[in-house]
Amino acid sequence: MGLTGFFLITFLVVHASINGCIWFNDGGETFLFYAHFMGTNVIVHFLEAGLFLGLILHIVDGLLLWKQNRDARPVNYAYNNPGKNSTWYSRSMALLGTLILLFLIIHLNHFWGPNRLAYYTTGEEKNLFQMMQETFESLPVVLLYCAGCFSLFWHLLHGFKSAFQSLGLNHSKYNKAIEIAGIAFSIIVPAIFASMPISMYLHLVH
Ligand code: HEM
Repeated sequence: MGLTGFFLITFLVVHASINGCIWFNDGGETFLFYAHFMGTNVIVHFLEAGLFLGLILHIVDGLLLWKQNRDARPVNYAYNNPGKNSTWYSRSMALLGTLILLFLIIHLNHFWGPNRLAYYTTGEEKNLFQMMQETFESLPVVLLYCAGCFSLFWHLLHGFKSAFQSLGLNHSKYNKAIEIAGIAFSIIVPAIFASMPISMYLHLVH
């Protein structure tokens, strides 16, 4: 879980950086330059296959872990006050992960699917900047993206520091720093993502 989690965290940084190019306000030129590179480079295509494999492994691992936890104690404790010793989001990683997965299915259907389909059938890429502008004209879609980013925020809040712990990279000396970095990452990255559909909807990007 930790390894695939780190891998997905790296993807989020790359994805947010490339998409963030929309704020150059140059009609999407810089963003499209990098999107074209990511969409057509052979090495990136291999990495993309790795990304989807990593995502699937992360989900399967997560579900197995969730089942293992459940099977380990089929009968509940007579007295259990989980709020005292863990956060609700650490106990709800499977639920938050499922919400993110639902968001991802819709999201891939918006951009990645049509773009790859066009590329493999006609050899032409779609204008992803224009697609974003059109997609984020709809308020329900914008709200859905914000909800997806919000689930990502909660998921990362536990997942970031948990990844260090799973890999044995935690140490009493650095735990506080890891926790602070985790909180900062969980807030900043989803906020950057959420501000994309919002700023497009408000026509702050052109
Ligand atoms: C909220 C703002 C976001 C916008 C505007 C956005 C935009 C895009 C666009 C335009 C693509 C298509 C790239 C292509 O076809 O080459 C894409 C792909 C993708 N996005 Fe997002 N995205 C956002 C958030 C997210 C989040 C939060 C996640 C993960 C939790 C995510 C995961 C993915 C994945 C897995 C792909 C396909 C990977 C690939 O292209 O190789 N996106 N996104």
